[in-house]
Amino acid sequence: MSLLFTPMKIGKLSLDNRIIIAPMCQYSAEQGKATAWHRIHLGHLALSGAGLMILEAAAIETEGRITPQDLGLWDDVTEQALAEVINDVRKYSSMPLGIQLGHAGRKASTDVPWRGGGFLAASQGGWQTSAPSALPFNDSHEAPQAMSLARIEEVKQAFIDSAIRADRLGLELIEVHAAHGYLLHQFLSPLSNQRDDQYGGSLENRMRIVLEIFRDVRRVFPANKPVGVRISATDWVEGGWDLQQSIALSQALEAIGCDYIHVSSGGLSPQQQISVGPGYQVPFSESIKQAVSIPVIAVGLITEPEQAEAILTEGKSDAIALARGMLYDPRWPWHAAAKLGAKVKAPEQYWRSEPHEVKGLFKQ
Ligand SMILES: Cc1cc2nc3c(=O)[nH]c(=O)nc-3n(C[C@H](O)[C@H](O)[C@H](O)COP(=O)(O)O)c2cc1C
Repeated sequence: MSLLFTPMKIGKLSLDNRIIIAPMCQYSAEQGKATAWHRIHLGHLALSGAGLMILEAAAIETEGRITPQDLGLWDDVTEQALAEVINDVRKYSSMPLGIQLGHAGRKASTDVPWRGGGFLAASQGGWQTSAPSALPFNDSHEAPQAMSLARIEEVKQAFIDSAIRADRLGLELIEVHAAHGYLLHQFLSPLSNQRDDQYGGSLENRMRIVLEIFRDVRRVFPANKPVGVRISATDWVEGGWDLQQSIALSQALEAIGCDYIHVSSGGLSPQQQISVGPGYQVPFSESIKQAVSIPVIAVGLITEPEQAEAILTEGKSDAIALARGMLYDPRWPWHAAAKLGAKVKAPEQYWRSEPHEVKGLFKQ
């Protein structure tokens, strides 16, 4: 009996198995609006049999986009564009769908990755960015504006408004993006947060905005739908955000009703020294799992079904997420089920594809 294919619950949401499609920015929106690319991309991944798909980071306001092509969820027009895509995906897939809500802070206003991802000045279609402190991400970025308390309130309100839109879209889960060096992570890390008010300094102060936004989103999103948080467990920089602080944050989030912690790492500083290898972030999820009782998701170079199964059976996480592996092999869950002797959902249009040696693979 495979644990990877054993159903689980995140909050009150039931997942068919423990494979989660990680959020992946597509940089393919037009003024924040989902396009035909999203219909194709989300549509095909929704046929993969994964237990949950978390849609890419959607910006809660225009300034919060990483690139001008980021997906947005900040007004009726962006909501409507995403509604049309989601409605089509829903016609052919019952996979639960969540969305990540984010703000890029000082890492906003950049070009798309396939054009190098460099900073875009206003003259190149970029914009003035905001952050906890006026510290640029690197030498080629212009300095962000340090956020006033009024600006912080605006951003908090934008998270609330986007959460209400996500509910209206019928999305079943929200992931607050507090990882990868984006705005909320910038508040957490002492390397990017040098404020001397209630949002900077002590760990309690640096965590404040994440806890406040979590509470706000939780309050407006229906209680039967989970809200979780994605964190970077460490900056991979001496003197930065680290595992001990991540454990404290995870416990504080659990205490106010957080439904899960999604454990990634890095992205805050160009000084990061990461030793990347198979499952390189799993030790972080393992440590956090020991400190909380809500589900913990591991992610990062999990590519093999047996590897995923072992992470779960060894108690290192409750679910695993895949990003690049799903793009490379969009039927990864089918192939994993075949290897691990489990069953998986597939659209009836494809049932005839079941290879003879794994007859009974598809749930009917
Ligand atoms: C194309 C692409 C887009 C990504 N966009 C996001 C994103 O929107 N939000 C996020 O938290 N992580 C994002 N990530 C990171 C992934 O969710 C994941 O954490 C990372 O790729 C490691 O997992 P993997 O080894 O399975 O790819 C992205 C990764 C890729 C490859």
